[in-house]
Amino acid sequence: MSAATALLVTAEHRLLDDMLRLAAAAGVMMEVAHDIPAALRSWTAAPVVLVGTDLLPDLAAAAPVRRGQVHVVGAAPVPDKLFRDALAVGAATVVDLPAAESWLVERLTDVADGTAQSALTVAVVGGSGGAGATTFAAALAQYAASPARPVILVDADPLGAGIDRVVGLDEADGVRWGSLAQSPGRFSSRSLREALPQRGGLGVLTWGPGTRPPLAAGTVREVLSAAQRGSHLVVVDLPRHLDAVGSEVLSRCSHALLVTWLSMESVAASSRIAVRLADSGRPVHLLTRGRGSALDPQEVARTLGTSLLASMSDQRRLEEWIALGLGPVHSRRGPLARAAASVLTTVGAR
Ligand SMILES: Nc1ncnc2c1ncn2[C@@H]1O[C@H](COP(=O)(O)OP(=O)(O)OP(=O)(O)O)[C@@H](O)[C@H]1O
Ligand SMILES: [Mg+2]
Repeated sequence: MSAATALLVTAEHRLLDDMLRLAAAAGVMMEVAHDIPAALRSWTAAPVVLVGTDLLPDLAAAAPVRRGQVHVVGAAPVPDKLFRDALAVGAATVVDLPAAESWLVERLTDVADGTAQSALTVAVVGGSGGAGATTFAAALAQYAASPARPVILVDADPLGAGIDRVVGLDEADGVRWGSLAQSPGRFSSRSLREALPQRGGLGVLTWGPGTRPPLAAGTVREVLSAAQRGSHLVVVDLPRHLDAVGSEVLSRCSHALLVTWLSMESVAASSRIAVRLADSGRPVHLLTRGRGSALDPQEVARTLGTSLLASMSDQRRLEEWIALGLGPVHSRRGPLARAAASVLTTVGAR
């Protein structure tokens, strides 16, 4: 199966016709499995699988292996009893036709773009206030980004000062959370990436001026999934208070980075966050700030039950670079750049 071929599992002619029409609109090929053995043969190779409600119960009974990008498709209204089968096949969504047609075209467009696979996603969390999490998230994204390897930096902290300022994109045109919250599901990964404020392969999703209405978990899930499909790496600046949205984001990250200031107070506060991060089941890595402290970074990492990735000294001239709109990483050598490089190596993003 070629990368730009989606798998459709159905024996229903009407659904088949509808889906072939949508696939043509998205410019993608569709392989059709009319029965369960054919579905299982192509199950893992397809970048996206669309399962018709007609074959869903039989497919659920066959217990296919877990994989991402599985969506159940059926004519509205999809009966409630099918949701259990949808969970059994690991479906991310159950969508009704014709209401979900444009949504499906966006998903299929991602297949055509070759962006249906999810990017590595790193959540950065401060162990205590002002530890340097936002700065490091911005530094990591800036360091990793290039036009050939686009990175999306997501500001998920509604109380923060705005990460777009840190990377020098606060004046740039583009969509922000406010407009996305009003139109969830509207973006394919490519259109999301193109719509964000960006420079040199780095796109940023943040709040902008004005009020910040609370985000719905569904919106965040949708937007994050488009970001992951459209980039090489996603970096999320996550607030310490892991509310429903924060937990939702964390469950979609591949790694968590905890940034801790080397003081007793900060380490004590960090230990509570470290437990929450570890509960998410993600690997948790530690970055410490504040060289010269009596606390040993390795010892702190052991206490927190994390692995130490880097112990950073302060970045000189940071405020000046940020004020000039240059972002926190201005050379490949400073402490932020070195820490970013070791994160990328550890998470396997280089
Ligand atoms: N690596 C660094 N070197 C020097 N200064 C830094 C570094 N990281 C952060 N700072 C400075 O520390 C302050 C707090 O940084 P930052 O906003 O990144 O922390 P935070 O953990 O995100 O804080 P908050 O709890 O408000 O979210 C800022 O003034 C920033 O310029
Ligand atoms: Mg912050």
